[in-house]
Amino acid sequence: MPSVLVLMLLLASPLALAEVVLLPAAPSPQRQKELVHLVRQDCGSCHGMTLQGGLGPALTPAALREKPAESLVATIYSGRPGTPMPPWHRFLSEAEAQWIVAQLLAGFPSE
Ligand code: HEC
Repeated sequence: MPSVLVLMLLLASPLALAEVVLLPAAPSPQRQKELVHLVRQDCGSCHGMTLQGGLGPALTPAALREKPAESLVATIYSGRPGTPMPPWHRFLSEAEAQWIVAQLLAGFPSE
């Protein structure tokens, strides 16, 4: 019986690892609220309060659909040198930037 258990663990762990790599843990519900507020307030000052665009381009699902998610994550985390888009790595983790991009692509939640 125990060997079956070990076998199951061996089979399950690469899958579990793949999930961790592909889907970083979602921020806690409290942190998600803070991130939604940050995006609506701070990002909204350039991208528009409804994220339809302003100084910065629109961040709506339609506007972002064709763009690779990882480059959007990199833009948020590291900024775009030579443009007004600032880096946000002092305020959020890369996993949180990934979470924000996933929300933007799905239609960003209101506060
Ligand atoms: C000071 C103004 C400013 C602020 C604040 C700002 N952005 Fe930007 N952002 C820009 C500009 C301008 C661009 C376009 C850069 C370029 O010309 O490539 C941009 C580009 C982007 C892009 C790439 C869009 C695309 O179509 O490729 C994303 C995603 C993005 N910003 C998200 C955010 C998020 C999320 C925040 C807040 C955490 C934020 N921005 C805050 C000005 C800003």
